[in-house]
Amino acid sequence: MKLGIIGAGGIAQAIAKQALRAGYEVVLSNSRGPDSLKAVVHSLGKGANAGTKQEAASQEVVFVSVPWPKLKDALKDLPSWNGRIVVDTNNPISAPDFKLANLGGRTSSEVVQELVPGANLVKAMNTLPPETLESDASQESGQRVLFISGEDVRSKQKVAGIFERMGFAPIDLGGLAGGGSLYQFPGGPLAAQNLMRLPLR
Ligand SMILES: NC(=O)c1ccc[n+]([C@@H]2O[C@H](COP(=O)([O-])OP(=O)(O)OC[C@H]3O[C@@H](n4cnc5c(N)ncnc54)[C@H](OP(=O)(O)O)[C@@H]3O)[C@@H](O)[C@H]2O)c1
Repeated sequence: MKLGIIGAGGIAQAIAKQALRAGYEVVLSNSRGPDSLKAVVHSLGKGANAGTKQEAASQEVVFVSVPWPKLKDALKDLPSWNGRIVVDTNNPISAPDFKLANLGGRTSSEVVQELVPGANLVKAMNTLPPETLESDASQESGQRVLFISGEDVRSKQKVAGIFERMGFAPIDLGGLAGGGSLYQFPGGPLAAQNLMRLPLR
């Protein structure tokens, strides 16, 4: 299975590394076209491909990892979503001053859902820095926790299965509004928590 990734920066490459180690192929994309990603996919190694964002968006599961101010542009002119899964890893802030976007009282993923009509959106991988996200998810006797939320249960199960294959311990917190707010960055009480799930003894 090939995972699509819109974005090719820190988080996108961390996702790609986990995916490749878990045996998936990936197609990364950015705003500048596949040629600009030759060095990136070479360093990621076998199974990493550079594509257009349309090629990335055509995969069954599509991770979106771009700066908040670029999201609208990144998600325009894409094929109809037709129920494909979008994993929203994004946070509603602008660098370099961490300026918070006006979300009109919604969670950021509810806003992103409007940019991908017809997609089944799952919020995940938005709270850990790249160096943590890409490091071995299974350590000592525990597995790193990833929170997920979304409205479509089957899509969440699919994403959870991918995360489990990467070695993570996914925890479903519910819908995009209630669940998503718990680990929305900044402010959610579970955001930026590097948690490990240990077996019960
Ligand atoms: N860094 C963190 O610690 C962290 C942690 C969790 C979540 N996040 C979130 O994850 C997202 C990505 O963060 P990051 O740190 O990975 O950012 P980053 O390193 O700056 O990378 C951003 C990527 O987005 C691409 N991009 C920009 N405009 C685009 C467009 N119109 N179409 C397609 N691709 C476009 C950029 O490529 P080009 O400019 O070359 O096109 C670049 O590859 C953000 O929303 C951030 O809030 C970040």
